Amino acid sequence: MILPIVGYGHPTLRKVSQPIDQSYPNLKELVANMYETMYNADGVGLAAPQVDLPIRVVVIGFRPYDEKTDTFGPVTEQHTLINPEILAFGDQKDYYNEGCLSVPDIHEDVLRPTTVRVHYWDEDWHEHTDDATGLYARVVQHEVDHLDGKVFTDRLSSLRKTLLRKKLGAIADGKVQTKYKMKRVKR
Ligand code: NI
Repeated sequence: MILPIVGYGHPTLRKVSQPIDQSYPNLKELVANMYETMYNADGVGLAAPQVDLPIRVVVIGFRPYDEKTDTFGPVTEQHTLINPEILAFGDQKDYYNEGCLSVPDIHEDVLRPTTVRVHYWDEDWHEHTDDATGLYARVVQHEVDHLDGKVFTDRLSSLRKTLLRKKLGAIADGKVQTKYKMKRVKR
């Protein structure tokens, strides 16, 4: 089932999400719905607060994109991260042009470490520690930020944030078109 995604300005995106344990009901169904929602919106990561659930659950998935046909191939890599914790950040940093399903039509270069060690459980409650590199390391950091109530635009310079203020305000007011379903903030 595709879930509506909350946008910039929604209070759930600013909460510190809570860890879950094995008593959390229907976890596998939620995770499946989060993958479906993410792929439907052409995303590579989705955190539970983005579907209005302030719990520490993240899905990440990659599919090759074919520019010629404008279609995606089958999933090549997928990770469900329950209660993820970044144990260590690598020394090297670089910029990468990030976007976010909760912040439509805004793409900005964000500086982050290129590698992280992340500890988490999957939806079968198997424990993992991954040394993440490349796009995986990037998305892990973006999604763990969501669990801590942060969005990627928080990490921009104050000048960039000032320049984006109108666009962010428009998203918060629900004045943005997306091909996927968004949940409006009640004001
Ligand atoms: Ni995001």
